[in-house]
Amino acid sequence: MNTQLSQATKNPVAIITGAGQGMGKSVAHTLAQQGLQIAVNDIHFDAANATVAELHASNFNAIAVAGDVTNKTDVQNMMQQTIDYFGAIHILINNAGILYPSKVIDISEEEWDRVIDVNLKGTFLCSQAVLPAMQQNSWGRIVNFSSTAGKNISTVGGAHYTAAKAGILGFTRHLAKEVAQHNITVNSVCPGLIDTDMVRNTIDPGHQKAYANSFPISRLGKPEEVADLVAFLCSDKAAYITGASLDINGGDLMI
Ligand SMILES: NC(=O)c1ccc[n+]([C@@H]2O[C@H](COP(=O)([O-])OP(=O)(O)OC[C@H]3O[C@@H](n4cnc5c(N)ncnc54)[C@H](O)[C@@H]3O)[C@@H](O)[C@H]2O)c1
Repeated sequence: MNTQLSQATKNPVAIITGAGQGMGKSVAHTLAQQGLQIAVNDIHFDAANATVAELHASNFNAIAVAGDVTNKTDVQNMMQQTIDYFGAIHILINNAGILYPSKVIDISEEEWDRVIDVNLKGTFLCSQAVLPAMQQNSWGRIVNFSSTAGKNISTVGGAHYTAAKAGILGFTRHLAKEVAQHNITVNSVCPGLIDTDMVRNTIDPGHQKAYANSFPISRLGKPEEVADLVAFLCSDKAAYITGASLDINGGDLMI
């Protein structure tokens, strides 16, 4: 085990939501490489299984726990499956998220609810569900995926996405204060434009290039770069960081 990660246990366990692809999958690989056992959640079970197959191929210990982060029963089941298999949960990465580029005038009530639910309610439900296990261990790490959108406005998403990601920052601060006494830290990461399917499916290559050229570091971010930041926040080296939001955006937003 990498000694930078969790001296709380010899076999730390992390659950990562939405880890069937993109940054969640990258976080799964990075944390596994650092000695963690991994529960891979995704709403698409095939995608979660594919990530687990890759981890198994590298001899890492991992299981797939399917479920929709907006559904309380699914969330309770996936946490229970993780505890039944590994015996504990030490780290939660709230990564699952969705985005639609709609203008406010066009957003249906259903679309508004779904974007808020997956990004914000899912973060709440998963955090609430892991707290008993973390409090029992007197140690925990929660890392929430906000976005540059949470501090400014979304580059490609609609107002529902911006509102949800801003909400995650408030939730992070509030929960961090509530659980600090249990040696649990809660932080957010705020990625800029990162090269994943979420971006590839929303922005055509020409516009991606134009966005990249507008950043001080003139390229999109890599999922592995965000995963390294997440891994740092999970480590004992980040023990004094809580309630924070860490930017990783190539200089796109400097505040
Ligand atoms: N890509 C970017 O530029 C960018 C920038 C800032 C923040 N983010 C945020 O980072 C996170 C990861 O983004 P990504 O680019 O890797 O996205 P992605 O679309 O590539 O992957 C998201 C994953 O979440 C899963 N998912 C969706 N709804 C779910 C649900 N209800 N329950 C469980 N899983 C669900 C999807 O199946 C998918 O595997 C998201 O929260 C996103 O909003 C992305």
